[in-house]
Amino acid sequence: MRIVVDHDLCSGHGRCATVAPALYVLDDNGFSAVNELDVPVHLEDAARAGANNCPERAITLIGDD
Ligand code: F3S
Repeated sequence: MRIVVDHDLCSGHGRCATVAPALYVLDDNGFSAVNELDVPVHLEDAARAGANNCPERAITLIGDD
């Protein structure tokens, strides 16, 4: 599974980093610092939680069946 963050949609809500800090890192302004990221198998649930908690739907999970 791969995380892709759309920076045109990210508005700095920061919920991704709150629910899954091991994956979703924020920049100094509170916006997602992630562009694309391969997700270790043991963090796939965390990746989904972060994506589902983004109110802007800025996070896409590639290869999530
Ligand atoms: Fe941005 Fe959504 Fe996270 S708006 S900071 S990707 S919760």
